Amino acid sequence: MALQLKTFESVDELYDFAAQFLQQKVKEGAKTFGLATGGTMQPLYKNLRQSDVDFSNCTSFNLDEYIGLPIEHPESYFTYMQKELFEHKPFSKNYLPNGLAEDADAEAAHYNELLAQHPVDVQLLGVGENGHIGFNEPGTPFSEKTHVVTLTASTREANARFFNSIDEVPEKAITMGIANILQAKEVLLIAVGEKKRAALESLVRGEVSVDSPITVLQQHANVVVLTDLNISLA
Ligand code: GLP
Repeated sequence: MALQLKTFESVDELYDFAAQFLQQKVKEGAKTFGLATGGTMQPLYKNLRQSDVDFSNCTSFNLDEYIGLPIEHPESYFTYMQKELFEHKPFSKNYLPNGLAEDADAEAAHYNELLAQHPVDVQLLGVGENGHIGFNEPGTPFSEKTHVVTLTASTREANARFFNSIDEVPEKAITMGIANILQAKEVLLIAVGEKKRAALESLVRGEVSVDSPITVLQQHANVVVLTDLNISLA
């Protein structure tokens, strides 16, 4: 597997590296960025906001969106992205799945068509505590493209911290599938904090298995992993 694991003693250094990595990709001509949400990405987007990076000739595709949250809800990924990045660093075009589409399956199919027209140069990824990438929960076949997913109880619990209560966390989402993620030319994955240890260990030491979706990245040719965790490769 072509996986580079970079371990940082300080998260500030990690996010500096990540921001510079993306800026370098823009300079090298990357045009299409796959973007992620979650707490992990907030310091990166802050860093990019404060940088002189210019995404105005670039296109973005977000990994996922909750189904049924009003677009102006502070935790919709649409609003998250506007606030964290797009209002400050405009792109030529931003794509996110529409979680309010009347027919969510048709919306997923449409997103796949858009992705087919815009191959992703660099895909940014976080990871869920259960190893999910995007919202591809354990058990998701690796062949899935963008699809509708029912979130696991553990993912809803993990994300409840962003809402007033767990009851407000949507039960469904639209997510790029693992097949889409594997199409990206390069993947930059960030895993920070002890809660991500088991998932990261499964990537670097475990067998490829749908039980931990992150392990599929062992099959990708170009993955850079940034972490503050000491993970032994043995
Ligand atoms: C969320 C998102 C993922 C994200 C993950 C980790 O549910 N759908 O894209 O990588 O869970 O989130 P966090 O960075 O908040 O730990």
